[in-house]
Amino acid sequence: NRADGAAVDAMRSFMDTVRMDGTVVIGEGEKDEAPMLFNGESVGDGNGPDVDVAVDPIDGTRLTALGYNNALSVFAVAEKGSMYDPSAVFYMEKMVVGPEAAEFVDLRLPVEQNVKLVAKALEKPVSQVTVCVLERPRHEPLVEQIRAAGARVKFIMDGDVPAAIAADRGAGVDMMLGTGGTPEGIIAACAVKATGGMIQGRLAPTDDAEHQKALDAGHDLDRVLTTNDLVTSDNCYFAASGITDGDLLRGVRYQHHRILTESIVMRSSSGTVRMVAAEHRPEKWGRWLED
Ligand code: FBP
Repeated sequence: NRADGAAVDAMRSFMDTVRMDGTVVIGEGEKDEAPMLFNGESVGDGNGPDVDVAVDPIDGTRLTALGYNNALSVFAVAEKGSMYDPSAVFYMEKMVVGPEAAEFVDLRLPVEQNVKLVAKALEKPVSQVTVCVLERPRHEPLVEQIRAAGARVKFIMDGDVPAAIAADRGAGVDMMLGTGGTPEGIIAACAVKATGGMIQGRLAPTDDAEHQKALDAGHDLDRVLTTNDLVTSDNCYFAASGITDGDLLRGVRYQHHRILTESIVMRSSSGTVRMVAAEHRPEKWGRWLED
């Protein structure tokens, strides 16, 4: 929680230097009662465009605390009113693939068929398809189905945002499947929009109360939400920085008088993906952090 608190404070301070009139629509903390950038909070300097902001100051809090790989700090920005409201149900069943397979797969199809369609799209045998899955007891049947199809499973302990981006970019995995946070799904959708890959999701209530809440809010629980349902705007930005080393990004390195970071920045309207290797001198940050 202290790592999360530090990440929230740092993200809030630096976001306030950005020319935008942002409202946090996907905040963080509700699941683990950690310190929050709460929903409805205003961020940015208040002068620029009106935007929806989604934050996950640490995706992989446990990974960070334990020093394991693949923790990221991530945020996304999109035109106001364009991000899906994830408040009804915390978990969502997800499928992410890169641009090559985007047109072929469908969450309504059996797992085995989707895995085979990915293999066909990537022009490789199913035995060389790697599917990333959060290691959770709820995924045992899913893992059985992936293995029955003949594909490999790569488990992750946490962090399905970097996993989604890795699947989208073919960075060691070809596909992500399984149930994770709905907010993380919307953030991943902002990234996928830039690359032409695909995320599909289906709300997955965990108990009767959540099920009823979703129905009362008018959600169709059978509906497959597409990338465009999760973020309707084609003008969105996604940025992530590595906290610990990962498949996608190197983690933060502390050196004498400087801090080195690696980030990825994606812009959906142009499809530009930038890798940013940065050097920081924290003794110069005072004027931003004081306000
Ligand atoms: P946090 O680090 O923000 O807590 O999220 C980690 C995470 O693994 C997400 O990437 C994922 O979507 C979600 O938790 C899965 O939830 P659960 O741990 O309850 O299965």
